[in-house]
Amino acid sequence: MQAIVDQLKSTAADTQATDIRAAFNSDTARFDKFSARFEDMLLDYSKCAVNEPVLALLERLFAEGGVAEKREAMFSGEAINFTENRAVLHTALRNRSNTPVLVEGKDVMPEVNGVLAAMGSFAEKIRSGALTGATGKRITDVVNIGIGGSDLGPVMATLALAPFHDGPRAHFVSNVDGAHIADTLKLLNAETTLFIIASKTFTTIETMTNAASARAFIAGKLGEDAVKHHFAAVSTALDKVAAFGIESDRIFGFWDWVGGRYSIWSAIGLPLMIAVGPDNFGRFLDGAHAMDRHFREAPVRQNLPALLGLIGFYHRNVLGYPSRAILPYDQRLLRFPAYLQQLDMESNGKGVTIDGKPVEGNSGPVVWGEPGTNGQHAFYQLIHQGTTIIPAEFMIAAKGFEPELRHQHELLIANCLAQSAALMKGRTLQEAKAQLTAKGMPSDQADFIAPHRVFTGNRPSITIVYDQLTPYALGRLIALYEHRVFVEGVLFRINSFDQWGVELGKELATGLLPVVEGKAGTEGQDASTAGLVKALIG
Ligand code: F6P
Repeated sequence: MQAIVDQLKSTAADTQATDIRAAFNSDTARFDKFSARFEDMLLDYSKCAVNEPVLALLERLFAEGGVAEKREAMFSGEAINFTENRAVLHTALRNRSNTPVLVEGKDVMPEVNGVLAAMGSFAEKIRSGALTGATGKRITDVVNIGIGGSDLGPVMATLALAPFHDGPRAHFVSNVDGAHIADTLKLLNAETTLFIIASKTFTTIETMTNAASARAFIAGKLGEDAVKHHFAAVSTALDKVAAFGIESDRIFGFWDWVGGRYSIWSAIGLPLMIAVGPDNFGRFLDGAHAMDRHFREAPVRQNLPALLGLIGFYHRNVLGYPSRAILPYDQRLLRFPAYLQQLDMESNGKGVTIDGKPVEGNSGPVVWGEPGTNGQHAFYQLIHQGTTIIPAEFMIAAKGFEPELRHQHELLIANCLAQSAALMKGRTLQEAKAQLTAKGMPSDQADFIAPHRVFTGNRPSITIVYDQLTPYALGRLIALYEHRVFVEGVLFRINSFDQWGVELGKELATGLLPVVEGKAGTEGQDASTAGLVKALIG
């Protein structure tokens, strides 16, 4: 594999391979050659520094890197998360074909379908008012209490599917900062509020602390007996949930083969289901399943997750770009960059290979972003003219949901396309100077100003287009990125499915709490930590 990476490096060093603007000028078919479609979804990677030799090498990398074999191992329930001895089967949660999926010889589909049906029935009862609060009033507000994978997916998807939201209002509390729950509770009437405690482990300190505050809110306003009417829970740790006092018909389970950041398809999606209804939730699963089949079956050059992963690897480990910007031209994908941060950085932010050796080259990039056009007026300056090359990933729907505001959608499309064109084409010194002199600036002054108005261009971007952000399209988009992260992880030769890197901070926080509470001294702490404790609590 390293030999292919080396070949890619020397091929990319060839100016022909890296001058994207020149490549467009010399090949009118470039867009057709370097774009791929799945259903109404289009992936345009023609504005990246790829050419036929690069693509051929990337195809070889996919084969020799063993991506197809690992993909089958994942889909068929092998314990590819070997540091935790777990299968990785979020794809089973949306296996709409219902074919058996075996984990240690047992088909998981009956249990998957059972939980989905129980969620559907609970969601319908909340939505219809058949299940009420303790005083008989209809539930108007649902608060999901969770963090990380037990929060980001439901928040992101509920915002994304706002046009389909016809259930109770949805709120999300994640931060252990009491401000989060306090500000949320201020908006709520205890009598009409349902809390969903979402935690895979049911031990996460943020979630357990916020859950206790929510419980105190209900018990304080309505009495202890009301608690059972106002809580539901989602977890793999059913015994711990029962100990919290939540009734068994309000507990929705999932399994240790579902990673937290891959769990939106499981009962963790309950707040989304209550918001948009079981049918729309089903279409969301359908979209993801369609992408799963595409990823499993399509040849590499037509396979969107494979191409996105290969280009991602190429950017990170061949061209050495340290980050990628996620730029949805879709206001409802406001939290998609944050969602992808966890998906990508918690999965591929690893320094050790599957053989326990240090990663050669790089593993995952820094992922960040904001919706366009807002980002244009904030950080795009650096993407266009800064000294760091940041591959940009644009995404946009052909249609919005506001036909009466079609003109605004046209403006959105024009801006999105203009940005990727500007990144690719740039503006030369001669062009900059010519523009200035055409406006009447004297030549010597134009010479002075023009360098500041130069755009180097040749900056890579990918554009993903889909018809409209429906539940189906959203499911497909998330699954596209999940599989992209998978492809990159296999090529980085890491385990994308554990997250030991978040443990140390948690352990130290547990040790520091008694110090912060004033129950223990700062002896044994490093001088900085001790100094900071003193500054904060005296
Ligand atoms: O941040 C670490 C992590 O374990 C994530 O992987 C996970 O999504 C999050 O904490 C929440 O965990 P839980 O669902 O168990 O509360």
